[in-house]
Amino acid sequence: MAQSYRVAILGATGAVGTELLELLEKRNFPLSDLKLLASARSAGSHLLFKGEKLLVEEVSDRAFDGVDIVLASAGGSTSRAWAPKAVVAGAVVIDNSSAFRMDPTVPLVVPEVNAYAAAEHCGIIANPNCTTILMSVAVYPLHQVQPIRRIVAATYQSASGAGARAMEEVKVQAQAILHGQTPSAEIFPYPLAFNLFPHNSPLNEQGYCEEELKMVNETRKIFAAPDLRVTATCVRVPVLRAHSEAINLEFDQPFSVAQAREILSQAPGIKLVEDWSANHFPMPIEASGQDDVLVGRIRQDLSHPCGLELWLCGDQIRKGAALNAVQIAELLVQKNLLKTPVAANDRRST
Ligand code: A2P
Repeated sequence: MAQSYRVAILGATGAVGTELLELLEKRNFPLSDLKLLASARSAGSHLLFKGEKLLVEEVSDRAFDGVDIVLASAGGSTSRAWAPKAVVAGAVVIDNSSAFRMDPTVPLVVPEVNAYAAAEHCGIIANPNCTTILMSVAVYPLHQVQPIRRIVAATYQSASGAGARAMEEVKVQAQAILHGQTPSAEIFPYPLAFNLFPHNSPLNEQGYCEEELKMVNETRKIFAAPDLRVTATCVRVPVLRAHSEAINLEFDQPFSVAQAREILSQAPGIKLVEDWSANHFPMPIEASGQDDVLVGRIRQDLSHPCGLELWLCGDQIRKGAALNAVQIAELLVQKNLLKTPVAANDRRST
């Protein structure tokens, strides 16, 4: 008998939260109930789901009663506060924050790469960092054929990674500049419109920012390759919602461009965008709203006989966050990895 599931979105009013709502509808996730949770700020507001207005509630101690799956995207401190309570209430939490990603008891899952890891969950599954998800989808198919020894990445990250208010801030800044005014910055440390700056996450004593270290450590965990050498430079750019990345890969043996192209053209979650005659390659404007990671400019590294270069763009809110989380939820359902699935006709429908 078909089963359906009670789902809660924690952070439903945010950039990722609203995308989660859209994807659950678009992908026809088997829902029997959908609960929208946020802070007191937006409690009492409504969001549309399948043409119906759903109430946004403030997250509370009883909010997870009877819930099977929590899709959390409300920041690290909110996840740390509420995810353990949701697990005690019987739910499996798919957490989009960085709170639990490096916890050895928490699987860190990109379904195209390590779907198997989801089975090892103890109530929480972490959704990786957005730049890491996009890079993993693009380079893992090559790693499977010939292990990657070293990755050097440079990212060009959109405002959406800092949430809905950050996206709004960039638009307001752009308007201000176009009207000859001085832009102000609240979410970001500096104006981002018509500007760029190294990623605004905290720096460590070696000079790496948190975002860069996420790419290093999370990629190793997802690939189950603790010795994989990864280094990154992460940069914020005045793009609204898709991230771009320049990736240099080093292998033990030469990896032919033709073979890499052939492998990536058949890999899940990837679309090759390479029109060399028109100089048309992945762009954030074309990646926005797409499920696939767009990959192109695959070429030999002129400086290294075993090196490859590639360029990618991916929708940060979608595959970089919400879509990956919904795919994990689908995996839990397909593989029967939830704690207490209940038959559809035992529940009220949404
Ligand atoms: P709210 O609308 O009440 O502020 P974004 O990443 O786009 O900034 O969105 C963050 C999401 O997380 C929003 O839905 C926001 O809700 C929610 N949120 C932020 N802080 C809390 C909190 N302390 N408790 C519950 N939800 C929170």
